Parts: sequence; structure tokens; C-alpha cells
Amino acid sequence: MRSTTLATCRTLSGATSAGSTDLTAGGVDTAATCGGTLTGRPDDVADGAGVPADGEGDGDPLDVLGVPGQINLDYAATAPCARAAADAVARLLPWYGSVHRGAGALSRRSTLAYERARQDVGDFLGVRADDHVVFTRNTTDSLNLLARALPPGTRVVTFDGEHHANLLPWAAGAVRLPVPDSPGGAVRALDTALRQLRRDAGGTTPILVAVTGASNVTGEIWPVAELATVAHHHGARLALDAAQLAPHAEVDLGALDVDYVAISGHKLYAPFGIGVLAGRADWLDAAPPYLAGGGATLAVGDGPHHDVRWADGPARHEAGTPNLFGAVALGAVCAALARADRAALHAREQTLLARLRDGLADLADVVELRTFAADAPRVGIVSFVVAGRDSTEVATALAEGWQIGVRDGLFCAHPLARRLLGEAAARAGRDDLPPTAVRASIGLGTTPQHVDRLLTALATLTGAR
Ligand SMILES: Cc1ncc(COP(=O)(O)O)c(C=O)c1O
Repeated sequence: MRSTTLATCRTLSGATSAGSTDLTAGGVDTAATCGGTLTGRPDDVADGAGVPADGEGDGDPLDVLGVPGQINLDYAATAPCARAAADAVARLLPWYGSVHRGAGALSRRSTLAYERARQDVGDFLGVRADDHVVFTRNTTDSLNLLARALPPGTRVVTFDGEHHANLLPWAAGAVRLPVPDSPGGAVRALDTALRQLRRDAGGTTPILVAVTGASNVTGEIWPVAELATVAHHHGARLALDAAQLAPHAEVDLGALDVDYVAISGHKLYAPFGIGVLAGRADWLDAAPPYLAGGGATLAVGDGPHHDVRWADGPARHEAGTPNLFGAVALGAVCAALARADRAALHAREQTLLARLRDGLADLADVVELRTFAADAPRVGIVSFVVAGRDSTEVATALAEGWQIGVRDGLFCAHPLARRLLGEAAARAGRDDLPPTAVRASIGLGTTPQHVDRLLTALATLTGAR
């Protein structure tokens, strides 16, 4: 695993070899709160003192927890918890204390665990040495934070096919490009739009392109590196919504040359309430704090207006007591995934996905939704409709009759889902498709038996068997 020095834990990383750690580095107001410099050996974290160590525990860290008899095919909404996350939380539970705010052993260990989680997540995302890794609540929170951190006058460009989390945070005036019919079409459309925008807006106006890595409706993978190249060619930055991509494929900021990335812990086998925005430091350090409060300040004056000196770095946007358990759980999963054979995981998932899609294609009344060609690269997400059947009714029947959990609706991507439903009806030549869809999504705990049971259930429900 590549080791990355992050802005906030520069001293933590640097001190690993030196054997002591100064947690006041990086603009965190620990010294002000605690009245001193905290020191501690990072080794303390891993020496059985209750804070998770990489690779500790029995069993495969990427096994997922589940309820016997219940088949979860709803990973795209929320993935079940990985053993790595559960173990990390269990080990920390007896030991936790305040983060960045105390001189006691529990507090120091918690601070180290929190910053180590930041490092593990940053390594997993391939952040550059001078990027920030900010803990948030989820992808929605991360993109809202970025929206608030944009320099004044920034123009934003998105596609109509985005999840609401990557459509709604951007201010009025954002350019929304039509959903393209191929990855190449997306690159060409962005190139044309940015050339025009640059001409209209002038050479110095900041521009941000905000795109998804993989669609939560179709699973189709977007050409992220090519879009980033085009964005940079026109002097724009690119933010990647990797909520659906990161659980399935490697996301390396440096290699993709992406400026910002947003992820959710609960889609990455960690619990709810933790997310990350990682990327370029300059806009984040220049922006007003996302949350104002303790932990985000260097000093607060006595005057009536409380002149505040805000911290730089992640602390600037992380005011308040942080979600230590979420961060530690996410860090543990990221470390486990970084150690895993991602190519083998990808191949296994693609085999399951092909089994699922082939099986669906064999059912006469089932129609799959797609934006790109049927063989375009995709992650393990499939949305479909059963002609003549209400999608909520289908999802309910799968749950009640077959113990299979799927999602139904428009998947918080209403413009895209509506459009794809219309296109699916035209492609299939049917006028009896329902107005919402069913989504099955697979992940680390999915087996061929799960897929087959869904196919059998659908065949039974549609009368094909
Ligand atoms: C592509 C995509 N982006 C963003 C989000 C929002 O994630 P969260 O609800 O964790 O903020 C989702 C959630 O489904 C998603 O699929």
C-alpha cells in the first residue's frame, strides 16, 4: 500500500519512524483546548491497547455480516458491514475518549486512531501529498461541503444523469448537460460545453465539473480519466462522485488526475454517518468553515464579534466532536480493500453480474434500464422493470415471499430514471412498463445462489416458471 503524507497528519506520518507524535500539527486547535502538545507512540495504537491494527482478528476482513435466511441485493443503497469494520469498532469501544481534545490516554489513542483512519482512507483513494482528506457524514454532505467551498463565481457543469446528491447542491446557473448515449459522447459533450463556457465566462473564472464514477441506476461506469483530461484542458477542475464506484473499483485520485472525490462509508461496508471529501487543499483552505465551532479554530477573540482565526486543513471543516467510530470503521475497510486482490474481486463480481443480467434477459417480461450500449463496462448494479407490474409490488413480493431485499423507485436520480424508463419502453416496444423501477445490486457477500434465487423468484412472479 502506498504511504501518503496528509496535511493533518503530516507529523503523525513523519513521527512513525521517529517514534513520537505531535498531534497539534496541521492547524487542529488541540493545543488551545488541551493546553499542550500531545505525544504518544503510534505503536500504542496497534499493541493490543484496544485500537484496531491492520489485519487483526479472525476471518477474512472482507467477509460481510448478514442475517441468515435474508438475501441482500441492495448494496447500492447501503452495503452490509464488513468484518474489518465491525472488528475495528469492537476493539475501540472500551477505549474511546475525546478526539483532538484531551491529554489522557484514551483521548490520545482516539486521536491517533482517527488520524490513522484518515491516512488509510487517503491511501485507499490515492490522494496526493498536499490533498486534504475531510471526514463528513456521507457523499451528499461531501458534495455540499465542496459546493460551499467553491471560489466566488465558480461555474459548475454536471450531467442530467447524476444522483440528486450531485445535482442539487450546485447553485442555480449550473450547466446541466443532457445524458449522453455513450462514454465517448460524454467526453465530447463536455469538451464542447467547456469550450463554450470558457469563451463566455472568460479565462480566469473557476469551473468545476462534477460527475459520477458509476451510475446508481444502471451501474454503468463513466470515463472519469478522460473527462478529467478534458476538464483540465479547459482549465476546469473535476469532482468525482465515487459513492458507487469506490466499493467496486479502484479509485486513485492521482492516477485519474481527479481534483476531488466524495464517498460514503455506508456504501463501503462501514456503518452510517461517515463520508469523505478528499482533494485539492487551496479551495478548501480559502473557504469559510462548513461548520463553525470548536475544533475548527486556532483562536477566538474576546471582542463582541469574536474575531476568529480558523484552522487550515481538514479541521477547518470538521468542527464539533467527530464520528470516531465511523472514521475508524471506514479506515479499516479501506485498509482491508487496499490489501485485497481487487482484480480478483472485480472478476468475481463481473461473473455474478453477467449471471444476473443474462438471467434477466431470458425473462420475457423483464426490461433492463441502460444509458450506454448493453456491453458497456459497469459495476454490480442492475435496474429493471417487470412489464405490467408495479415495481413496489414486485419489491414487496420479493421481500415477503422470497426474503430478497432490493430497492424500487427512481433511486434519487429522477431525471435519469424517468428518461431511461421511457427509452426502455421504446426499445422493448411495450406500453405496459410501470413508472418506477426495481434495482438489484451486488457486493462482497453476494453468491451465485443469491442471484439464482432472485431469477427464480422473478420467473415465478412473471409466470415464466
Ligand atoms: C451515485 C451516488 N451519489 C451520491 C449518493 C448519496 O449518498 P449518501 O446518501 O450516502 O449521501 C448516492 C446514494 O445512493 C449515489 O448512489
